[in-house]
Amino acid sequence: MLDSQDSAKRAAAGAAVELVEPGMRLGLGTGSTAEHFIRLLAERVAGGLEVRAVATSERSAGLAARLLIPLADLHELPALDLAVDGADEIDPALNLIKGGGGALLREKIVAAAARRFVVVADRSKCVSVLGSFALPVEVVGFAVGPLLGRLGALAGPARLRRLADGRPFVTDEGHQLLDCACGAIANPARLACELAALPGVVEHGLFVGMAAEALIGDADGRVERRLPR
Ligand code: A5P
Repeated sequence: MLDSQDSAKRAAAGAAVELVEPGMRLGLGTGSTAEHFIRLLAERVAGGLEVRAVATSERSAGLAARLLIPLADLHELPALDLAVDGADEIDPALNLIKGGGGALLREKIVAAAARRFVVVADRSKCVSVLGSFALPVEVVGFAVGPLLGRLGALAGPARLRRLADGRPFVTDEGHQLLDCACGAIANPARLACELAALPGVVEHGLFVGMAAEALIGDADGRVERRLPR
């Protein structure tokens, strides 16, 4: 039995699955909403739909493989037709904070490789200004010490993401994550550039101007299609 937030996520994912056409090269996101998309896509694949997909995390790749969705990598499929992924926050311009699930680096690479990047989310992810959700920044382990201070001054207090047992969280690409309590981000594009310029930062969770549309689900199954404002 799905709770109401999960029903909303599933509704959004269902609308995204309808965008998939035979022969498409797909990007599969990471997180609970993206997993709904993967499960619903698998039903269509089982019914005969032919697609190939690149996953944005080991977790999503494992799920897709178990559900018999044909997988490829970006060497085989350097350009994708459609990428579908969740988000932690979505502003009216469809700028995003992503990376709550720790997969932001591969997510951004896959979104950038796609002709069309569609965000799927429940309505709780929609905000007027980004920044309540702590902004994940993926960094090389060697740079964690200095970056805690640099990010703190630039973006807001930063904390090393840890597993429940206290060990640092390690991403699929072998890096670590610093979560920054930014508060309202007045200019996401400027902050994105400033973060990218810091030595030791591999990538950050601000996705600026990347999403072509957002499918926002409600618990009653309705889905609103939003374009960037
Ligand atoms: C994964 O790294 C994230 O970017 C997710 O896409 C994001 O956290 C949304 O996750 P949910 O769909 O689980 O809310």
